Amino acid sequence: MTRFETRAVHAGEQRWGSPNVRPSEDLCPISTPIHLSTTFSHENVERTDRVLGGEEPGYSYGRYGNPTVTAFELALAALEGRGRAFAFASGMAAMHAALMAAEIGEGATVLAAEQLYGSTATLLVQIFAASGAEVRFVDACVPSAVEEKVEELSPRAVVIETISNPLLRVADVPQVAKVARAAGSTLIVDATFGTPYLQRPLELGADIVVHSATKYLSGHGDLTAGVVVADAPYDAALDQIRKLVGGITAPFEAWLALRGLKTLPLRLGRQCENAREISAYLADHPKVRKVNHPGMKDHPDNEVARRVLSDAGGLVSFEIEADGPEEGREAAFRFLNALKVCVRAPSLGDIYTLAIHPASSSHRELSPSRRARLGVGENLIRISLGIEHPDDIIEDIKQALDKA
Ligand SMILES: Cc1ncc(COP(=O)(O)O)c(C=O)c1O
Repeated sequence: MTRFETRAVHAGEQRWGSPNVRPSEDLCPISTPIHLSTTFSHENVERTDRVLGGEEPGYSYGRYGNPTVTAFELALAALEGRGRAFAFASGMAAMHAALMAAEIGEGATVLAAEQLYGSTATLLVQIFAASGAEVRFVDACVPSAVEEKVEELSPRAVVIETISNPLLRVADVPQVAKVARAAGSTLIVDATFGTPYLQRPLELGADIVVHSATKYLSGHGDLTAGVVVADAPYDAALDQIRKLVGGITAPFEAWLALRGLKTLPLRLGRQCENAREISAYLADHPKVRKVNHPGMKDHPDNEVARRVLSDAGGLVSFEIEADGPEEGREAAFRFLNALKVCVRAPSLGDIYTLAIHPASSSHRELSPSRRARLGVGENLIRISLGIEHPDDIIEDIKQALDKA
């Protein structure tokens, strides 16, 4: 098999001998076209019958599949190293489908990481719990706690994230996979912050991987999409759920995401470098109290990160020195308002450096006491590093901290 960087560039493209659409003698574009067709016709109705019956590969209707979407899916599955990929209209649609494929419903228990992305936690508590599932939470970064809960509850599924937001805690995926497997639970890993460049959870024992492709996979802040990559037992369910719920990604978004994937190793490599440099700079700054980056020796999961990730990721969060929450919030707002190169905006994984105040954005819906328990203070800032020159990012942060 070729190396990750090579696969990122070529995988999924519709070339001679590709498992996707066969190019013709007359036309073999080296970049997969955007197939903007709702329906697909065949040379005879017998073939249409075989395609609809799943006896032969092919396309019939846009909600069931599209060649551009397939190209993106094949590319991502090639990067994950195994499994089949299904592209969705958003990361949340992908997570919803993964939970449905794991049969989370009436009478099923799901054990979820306390550190989960807020909308995933709300999806579980509001939508899945309302249809009869029992939703329980655990600190996914305490292996003994996960083991205890899995033994106690025998959950149908365990849901964790590779790297969590905004404190960048790192889950021990191989360890959780071992425990989940022993209990017969399906392990779902949201690998949005890691991408297959940093970790391939299916190779570490997970059953289903979910990505918000809105982030690092596409990388340019210009689309919303999601993907589920799963082992064979979940294929049929995912295919059926996507057909019936109708959450397939659109061809243009799939094309943009496929194009983004080609530079994932280059972008994320640089973003990891930038995160390393910026966290070292922040750690020495007199106005900064605490820096969170899994690559730092004093990060609680530094040892796990070295073991389970190929690099420490492209995000950093830090607390500005302040006396109390009110002063912390004012200092954080002054810092954000003073930024000139870094963009004040949610999301992450873009080529642009993005900065947010988690307490008033991603974690706004939580009560102040829950935020405090999770370590999301008013003085906390999260930065998703882009691919700019690190010195420009540092100069921008320096001048903004002077004003904080
Ligand atoms: C870890 C994680 N998972 C899932 C999502 C949802 O992705 P989307 O916004 O593409 O639906 C996000 C969005 O921020 C996220 O950070």
